[in-house]
Order: sequence, then structure tokens, then C-alpha cells
Amino acid sequence: MKSLNSRCTYQRGFLVALWLAIAATAYAAESRVALKDAFKEHFLIGTAVNRNMVTGGPGFRRSAEQNAEDAALVKEQFNQITAENDVKWALIHPREGKDGYEFGAADAFVNFGLSNQMHVVGHTLVWHSQTPNWVFAGTNPPPTNVAAGVAVNTNTPATNQFRRGRFGDGFSGGLGRYNGPRASREELLRRMREHIHTVVGRYKGKVKSWDVVNEAIADGGGTNILRNSLWLEIIGPDFIAKAFQYAHEADPDAILRYNDYGLENPTKRKKLFALIKSLQAQKVPIHAIGSQAHVNVSISFEAMDQTLTEIATLGLPIHITELDVNSAAAGQRGFGADIANNAAKTQGGLVSDADKKLTDAYAGIFRAFLNNRESVKMVTFWGANDANSWRANGKPLLFDGNSQPKPAFDAVIAEAKKRAVAK
Ligand code: XIL
Repeated sequence: MKSLNSRCTYQRGFLVALWLAIAATAYAAESRVALKDAFKEHFLIGTAVNRNMVTGGPGFRRSAEQNAEDAALVKEQFNQITAENDVKWALIHPREGKDGYEFGAADAFVNFGLSNQMHVVGHTLVWHSQTPNWVFAGTNPPPTNVAAGVAVNTNTPATNQFRRGRFGDGFSGGLGRYNGPRASREELLRRMREHIHTVVGRYKGKVKSWDVVNEAIADGGGTNILRNSLWLEIIGPDFIAKAFQYAHEADPDAILRYNDYGLENPTKRKKLFALIKSLQAQKVPIHAIGSQAHVNVSISFEAMDQTLTEIATLGLPIHITELDVNSAAAGQRGFGADIANNAAKTQGGLVSDADKKLTDAYAGIFRAFLNNRESVKMVTFWGANDANSWRANGKPLLFDGNSQPKPAFDAVIAEAKKRAVAK
């Protein structure tokens, strides 16, 4: 009897413990809704990932353990990924020639996405930044003859310089500026085509969307629509159409995007309209507009809503490609393109009441995304948590450095619940 009794007590104790364990798990699951589930009826929810999240091991200022935790957060919360750096020209194709490619990190990134059933985005094919100097360099001595009065010397040294100090974080690889003899238009187009065919072709059917051309539009109120870059100077304005054409040849099923920042600014938006309408008139295969959305806590619902409503009139899906909301007192990347300079602006401490301002800003932004859900098809954060953000000092994301959700996370989930589609 005694033994039976004690057995019962033991069993009861076991059951209570089991119930407590189940309840705790249920609570944890409930308190950690996944963004990808909350928004599944509306749009994909993604994040930029860095190399060590997908390959494991220490790196990117994180220990091996922290990188593993970051990877777990990515799997838990997101159904789309973009490589933060590893698919950029400087990283994937650092040297000229067929042997000049380094596919290891990019392959790991793509495999991580596919094995976790994620929509994989390739970033980026043609950009004025993080592109090695050899791409623009002439392989032949500058032509000396001038045929029939037509200047054929396309090898004039650059008047357009890469801005000083961009990417002072080790990624530039000495790409500060290129002043040497230039490639001819034909040579640069050949290199661009070879690069796009090789990279897009390798991941055909695996990478579903590509940022084909990144940040080609000029900042500021001047009359120039296009940024003064070596792509523009050597090839001419049709470098954009050519890049899309080559990408479409390489994977006719891929979603091809034009990607830029500062589109919340009406002046820059006007230039976007001019560019995209001209591409559409030429029947260039462009399938989506990428809006980076590196914004400040001062962003309002109205500003974001207006931005999206206007862009939607171009008739293309909108992808929010690099979302973060900077709480740094000195502000976010302005409309100048000098990333290093803007990074320095995150040094001055946070705005007062930063957590509340961030929460309100995120609520407004997501209300605007949901308001435009007919056109917004993807929302990608530029980093999974504050610790691995390129703007770490501005604490711009929904998860803190320990991957704990911030109040802004709850605000975003609350917006999703308000818009839940009735079954
Ligand atoms: C940034 C990365 O986050 C940094 O790690 C890198 O040092 C510089 O580039 N616009 C873009 C992204 O299209 O590729 C940039 O990413 C941020 C601005």
C-alpha cells in the first residue's frame, strides 16, 4: 500500500512537472510569434544574413555561439534571406578571369536558404560600390588615333571618383577610387555580361529575385537623374538596360529589381519615376522596385504611405529591401551616398526616449506596408538583430543584441493582427 501510495505521489509529481514543462513551452511559443507567420497572408518577411550565420564559426564581431544563436533567430522568424555582402562583385568575383570567382560563401548562403525553404535574394549585380578596380581598368593601352574627327579615347582617367572613406570597415578592399586607364565601353559591357551570366546562371532557379542595378540614381535636387559613376561614364546610361537584359537572358524566371535608397524623399522619387518609365518604354525586363528604406525614427506613417502609394503607380511590385530604423541622435544615412560618413553619425548616442520612438516608427511603417499590401510583396530587414546590424550603434532592428524582441517587435505584430484577413 505504502509503496503504491508513494508511486502515486511520484506519478502525480511527474505529471505536474510535465504539465508545467508543456505550459512553459506553450508560453514561450506564444510570446515569440514569428514575423513570417504574422505576415504570411501579406508579404514575405526577410533579413540580410552575414557569412558566419550561414557557415557557422566565429566572425563578424560575434563568437561561434552568438552566430549560431543569430542563425536560429533567422530560421525562427524569417522566410526570405539576402546576403549582406557575399554576392557583391568584390566578394564573389574579386579577380579577373574564369578563375577569379570565389563562390564558397555565396554557395553556403544559397544552400542555407534552400534547406530552410526560404525565398533567396541575390544582392547585387551592378553597383558603383564594392566593385573591384579591375572591372573598370583598360586592358589595352589608350587608343591614340582619332578616326574621322570622332574621339575614340574612352580611356580618360576618371573625373568621377569614388567617395573617400566609403566602407572603412574592411569590405572596400582598397576600392577607394580608380584613376587609371579605363576599359572601353565594349570591354566593360563584355565583363558585365560575363559576370551576370556566370553568377545568375550558377544560381538559376535557386535565387528567385535579383537586385540587378543598385543605387544608380543621383542624390540631391540637381537635374542629373543618374549618379555619376564609372558605369555611367564608360558605358553610358544604357548600362542599366543592358544589365537587366543580361540577367533576364541568364534566368528568364527570376524577379529582376531596381534597388535604391532615399525613395521617401519626393525629389529622389521623381528621378526614380523618370528612370523606371524610360526602362518600361524600352521594354526592359524589370519586375519589381526595391526600396531600401534605411530610415530614421522620425519617419511618419504618412511619409511611408505616400512613398508606397506613389511608387505603386509604376505598376510593379514593391520590395522593401533593407529596412532599418535608426535611433541615433545624429540621424540616419541622409540623401548623400557617403556611407562611411553616415556610419560615423551613429556615434553620437541615441535620441531621447529611443525605445518609444522606435516602437512608434515601426508601428507606422508597418501600417503603411499593410495599407499598400496589394503592391508590397516582400519586406527585408537589414540584419536580424541589433548586434549584427551595419548600424549597430543606432539600434535599428526589432531584436536586441541577445535576440530578445524589443517593444517595436510587439508593435509590428499588433499591426499584423489588426489587419489579419478574416477566415
Ligand atoms: C552594407 C553592408 O551592410 C555592410 O556590411 C558593408 O560594409 C557595406 O554595405 N545599400 C546597400 C547595401 O545596397 O549593400 C549596403 O550594405 C547598405 C547600403
